[in-house]
Amino acid sequence: MELHILDHRLKIASVPRDSLHSCTHGVFKLAFLAEKTRCKFFSFTQTPEDYTLIVDEEGLKEFPASERLTVADATWAALNVASGGGHSPAAASAVGVTKIAKSVIAPLADHNVSVFMLSTYQTDFILVRERDLPTVVRTLSAEFIFVVAVDFLVLTYFSDITSPARRPIIHPLACPLNRFCITSLDPATLPSVATLLMDIMFYSDGFPNNLLFTSSSNEMWKMVRIGGQPLGFDECGIVAQISEPLASGDILAYYISTYKFDHALVPEEEIDNAVSLLTFRPELSR
Ligand code: ARG
Repeated sequence: MELHILDHRLKIASVPRDSLHSCTHGVFKLAFLAEKTRCKFFSFTQTPEDYTLIVDEEGLKEFPASERLTVADATWAALNVASGGGHSPAAASAVGVTKIAKSVIAPLADHNVSVFMLSTYQTDFILVRERDLPTVVRTLSAEFIFVVAVDFLVLTYFSDITSPARRPIIHPLACPLNRFCITSLDPATLPSVATLLMDIMFYSDGFPNNLLFTSSSNEMWKMVRIGGQPLGFDECGIVAQISEPLASGDILAYYISTYKFDHALVPEEEIDNAVSLLTFRPELSR
């Protein structure tokens, strides 16, 4: 497993659910006409609370006058877990927050580094504040070998660590009834599905059932939402509190932070197991 430090300078922004129209020009361009911008990183997440946009500095320029866009203060860097070479089956399955809970998430939490997680179908991005990068590199260098690649730093993971006693889970958890499908789309096919995606992003609340771009299985996922009040950006250890118990229970999980809350997605048949792992309180069981 390798950890790359990507050289994007990222901003995390939120648009209220009723105000997407104030940002459609920028969102359209970044989502569908990537070649017309110099933005290299764009993420769009819709939740019942808001839309979370993550863009680099070039991407932010596409929203010049939008007062409805709230941009969080910090500038973030992205660490990316890549399977080295990608040929071994072990490396190919190195996706999801479970796989990096002990090697990356826990040590960063132990060193008070606040993270912002973004799992995708292909890979996981761990966003850290730029000003924390020296701590990040120092913390993870005990566990990773540094290799300097062309324009990013590659850290190669070679050992595991034993983590301390269980962290208490601080924030309330909720488990909506929705079932989710995690899928991906070959960028080359974007033009042929663009109208459909525009419909989903801007005009409808649901996702059509027949829209499975890459479904290697019929696997469906369920969500644990983390947070009662908005979580903010300074607190550390939230991802660790959730991902460590899931990892110890061998439950695969994708983890998506948004402007207000965090979300862990686990395979549908594991949700009961996940919830009991997460709500188990050793101090209460005595
Ligand atoms: N900073 C938290 C952590 O280190 C995760 C992000 C929570 N905040 C948010 N806006 N989603 O675990």
